[in-house]
Amino acid sequence: MKYDSQLFELIKNEEIAKGIFDWTVKNSNLSSAAKAGQFAHIAVPGKTLRRPISICDADNNTMRLVFQVKGEGTQIMSRQKVGTYVGIIAPLGNGFKIEKDKRYCLIGGGIGVPPMLYTAKQTDNPLVITGFRSKDLVILQEDFINAGAELVLTTDDGTAGVHGFVTDVLKEKINEVDEICACGPIPMLRAISQIAKEFDKPCQVSLEERMGCGVGACLVCACKVRRTNGEEEYLHVCKNGPVFNAEEVVF
Ligand SMILES: Cc1cc2nc3c(=O)[nH]c(=O)nc-3n(C[C@H](O)[C@H](O)[C@H](O)COP(=O)(O)OP(=O)(O)OC[C@H]3O[C@@H](n4cnc5c(N)ncnc54)[C@H](O)[C@@H]3O)c2cc1C
Ligand code: FES
Repeated sequence: MKYDSQLFELIKNEEIAKGIFDWTVKNSNLSSAAKAGQFAHIAVPGKTLRRPISICDADNNTMRLVFQVKGEGTQIMSRQKVGTYVGIIAPLGNGFKIEKDKRYCLIGGGIGVPPMLYTAKQTDNPLVITGFRSKDLVILQEDFINAGAELVLTTDDGTAGVHGFVTDVLKEKINEVDEICACGPIPMLRAISQIAKEFDKPCQVSLEERMGCGVGACLVCACKVRRTNGEEEYLHVCKNGPVFNAEEVVF
């Protein structure tokens, strides 16, 4: 795993939906090495532990990170001023494995949507299904369209897009794609994995787990997987994941 810890200059910090912030950080050394589904581990002033945030987009000079304020760490991050230098270890983890000549269905639920933008940019004509609780929390729709995706928006309460869950749309459109990649809450990932199995489509899921070191040294982020021979073992979400084959994950 090739990663580095460096200072990135915060060049944009904008609230794009209620409590959801859009950062762009600049560093000419790292961004272009990032793969879809990898994450950045962010140092937060006054906090010992870093906060993991998925890479939403990257080019040669910049990296985009979109996060929702959950607790103190992300609250402090949301107040960082443009021009501040942020300590970031990146890119970390194993991302989505993308093959040429396959059509992907990329599914993001809530704050699991951001990593799907960088993934969409690396796939040809993807079908992207984004799900949010309600209209106030909808993000990144224009970005997906600009990335050339066929885009479907769903909201749980019907205030924007299709009234329903991402899984309702997946069931309707699953025969249009070869493989599924998903990131979001565990119940959503579990439901998507079951549908993928039912329709015999490969499926990769990106898991979120509480993290400490972010590089496989502290064991905080253990997740249970089942191998094809039936044996169960614990792996590190930070080092072996965050992306796993859905079939292997013991939800
Ligand atoms: C691989 C990965 C990618 C992620 N990508 C994003 C993203 O793109 N956008 C986004 O908004 N959020 C993302 N998260 C979740 C984000 O890391 C947590 O919301 C954040 O760490 C919460 O920190 P806090 O101090 O605000 O909350 P607190 O609850 O106060 O955090 C306390 C401690 O728990 C850890 N923690 C709490 N919740 C989580 C969590 N869900 N995952 C990991 N550690 C957690 C914190 O790092 C901290 O050490 C991701 C998590 C992982 C593991
Ligand atoms: S966060 Fe330390 S081993 Fe994964």
